Amino acid sequence: MDNSASQSAETNIDGLIIREKTPENLEFSFQSLATFITPTEHFFVRNHFAIPSLTVQSWRLQIEGAVEQPLTFTLADLMQLPARTLVATLECAGNGRTFLAPQPPGVAWALGAVGTAEWTGVPLTTILELAGLQATAIDVVLEGADQGELKEEPKPPGQIHYARSLPLAQAQQPTVLLAYAMNGAALTPAHGFPLRVLVPGWYGMASVKWLTRIIVTTQPFHGYFQTTDYSYWQQKSHLPPQMVPITAMGVKAEIARPAMHEVVPADTAYRVYGAAWAGDAQIATVDVSTDGGMTWQAAQLLDTPVRLAWRLWEFVWQTPGIAGSYTLLARATDETGRTQPLTHDPAHGRYLISHVLPIPVEVR
Ligand code: MTE
Repeated sequence: MDNSASQSAETNIDGLIIREKTPENLEFSFQSLATFITPTEHFFVRNHFAIPSLTVQSWRLQIEGAVEQPLTFTLADLMQLPARTLVATLECAGNGRTFLAPQPPGVAWALGAVGTAEWTGVPLTTILELAGLQATAIDVVLEGADQGELKEEPKPPGQIHYARSLPLAQAQQPTVLLAYAMNGAALTPAHGFPLRVLVPGWYGMASVKWLTRIIVTTQPFHGYFQTTDYSYWQQKSHLPPQMVPITAMGVKAEIARPAMHEVVPADTAYRVYGAAWAGDAQIATVDVSTDGGMTWQAAQLLDTPVRLAWRLWEFVWQTPGIAGSYTLLARATDETGRTQPLTHDPAHGRYLISHVLPIPVEVR
């Protein structure tokens, strides 16, 4: 396991860990987790291309393709439509990549490519209804204004926009928002100003920022960010493995404190705490081990559950009287009975890192 990145990394003025400068990729320092809502200035930023500079005056959203009536909206048009506010956790599908050995390519996220915010916007389904879907519509492509050339092969030629699609049934979920506000304020440029998609329960790659175009299609979309990238080998017993787009979040608990390699006083009551999430399912239990997985004890879930958001938890550890190295683990189970795996599934490649992550500490 490699933790060097999280220990030596440079931070910006808000304390976000700089994982990449160009394009800007910033990680929340997970050990600083203190509140249920992640303040916007501490919310991780995941960009594939440069942040586009958009103005409300010139920005427009278009819906086209297999619709009865192609439409164009200004931000004011959208803000006049009935709005919905919800709290949701967003996690990057590559969060935790630094725990994989050998280290695969991609941004070396430790624990903090995850955050929880309050989002306000218009349900995507409202816009689909206004445009009117043709009977043959099956997929909804969401395209951002950002664009650039990809570096890793295989790659499409020239410049492309960031785009992902949602199968129609998912696009019609009432919780899928075209969000213009985050934590009660207009989106910041880094988080998609003036409008982004929010797909609660799915990994962050589906929540397209700087949205300018919605294209309804009659064939499944196979764009770069859901085939070559953000996809994995799905193994079903009756079929050969097939490459499928990454969609819903796994069940996962992360330990915020103690931090990796923290020195913890011997023979004291130490408050171990963190967060756990499971996409659109509720967390049922979090178990903690302080002996590398030999024994487990139940942690206490804090506050009341909020659908689509993480649950904070704590566990009081009576630390050993004997100094030494100890490994802490936290393992979540959701209401459907899904439990975090103990190891990373190789079929998931450099994504979907939801196995139990070891936090080594020194007791002194
Ligand atoms: N949308 C656009 N247009 N361009 C991007 O690079 N990155 C995606 C998604 N939406 C991305 C995007 C990924 S991989 C993630 S994890 C989330 O945005 C991160 O959202 P945030 O930067 O607001 O935390």
